[in-house]
Amino acid sequence: MTTAPAISVQKTTHSRIPETDFNNLEFGKYISDHMLMSDWAKGEWSEPVIVPFGELRMTPAILALHYGQAIFEGMKAFRTVDGSINIFRIRKHHDRLNKSLDRMCMPAIPYDMFVQTLHALVELDRNWVPRSDGSSLYIRPVVFASESRLGVKVSDQYKFVILTSPVGPYYNKPFRLKVEGHYTRTAEGGTGFAKCAGNYGGAFYPTQLAKKEGFDQVLWTDHKEHKYIDEVGMMNVMFVFNGKLVTPKLNTAILDGITRDSIVTLAREAGLPIEERRISIDDLEEGFKNKTLTEAFGCGTAAVVAPIAVINIRGIDYAFPPVEPNSIQQQMKKKLLEIRTGAAPDSHNWNYLIR
Ligand code: PLP
Ligand code: COI
Repeated sequence: MTTAPAISVQKTTHSRIPETDFNNLEFGKYISDHMLMSDWAKGEWSEPVIVPFGELRMTPAILALHYGQAIFEGMKAFRTVDGSINIFRIRKHHDRLNKSLDRMCMPAIPYDMFVQTLHALVELDRNWVPRSDGSSLYIRPVVFASESRLGVKVSDQYKFVILTSPVGPYYNKPFRLKVEGHYTRTAEGGTGFAKCAGNYGGAFYPTQLAKKEGFDQVLWTDHKEHKYIDEVGMMNVMFVFNGKLVTPKLNTAILDGITRDSIVTLAREAGLPIEERRISIDDLEEGFKNKTLTEAFGCGTAAVVAPIAVINIRGIDYAFPPVEPNSIQQQMKKKLLEIRTGAAPDSHNWNYLIR
């Protein structure tokens, strides 16, 4: 695991590290020096290459722009206590990448290719992995239809690109949520479980409306009754009722979050009561009223564990008290960070170390 696989590399002649403010890492603002690329044509992926981050040449007729065959992943690499770099949960991100690709009729990426390309790129740009607490290197693999043609069809050509970006936490303060009672992000049987670009594009309009009302994000509900909680626009969601961690049970409208899965696994292991079930907005309202609902937080690769300050249900703001250091969310955040940074044993084989 320690030597980078042989992938053709064209190095930049001008690193942008000196121009990067590592003390102020607004999410996604800086993109590291290099990117990885491979093209799919005639039924196979080309030899991947690493080149300086920059522009792509393509026509405005590429099918991704018109018919939306575009999917992505969001992963992170961390500095560990022994000075290695750790790419977290490659296997599960790869599984989800291929599920997304399959749902969008796009070709799978072989596991070995995924691991090798990630390794080579992260190793080359290892100086971009930030050192400050709570920061990491965000990794963005993206695949899109690159065939230039206007007919409505499944593309015969694709581009696979990996970008990386040094980041701090997505939210720097507890965020405000509005329960969505009208619009739908996706529906059962739709593309919610896939990480496809259109899910995000379609969510912008209702999210912008919520932002105008002073909220940060929308809490999506099921498309039929707008009664059961699905997730937040870029996070899964968890609640603490009576000391029990409760999170919506997965369905085809919800993204199977890797942070969610990690927290569920770690909570079970720690013997915390945990339940994956349908959660209605009435459950939330009741929990607020009888004070059994004590915590709520979003979880995701970009957001990590992000406390929720307010949930607006049918026009009423329900506020959570400030997060206590011994809260369940803080305990889970700590456990996750300890594994990611090598401070606690990696008993699930989640870490891929580049030494
Ligand atoms: N739900 C949505 C819609 C997301 O975009 C994300 C972020 O990736 C998540 C949930 C959390 O998933 P993960 O923990 O794998 O990042
Ligand atoms: C992630 O957490 O990786 C996401 O994809 C969320 C967002 C930046 C799109």
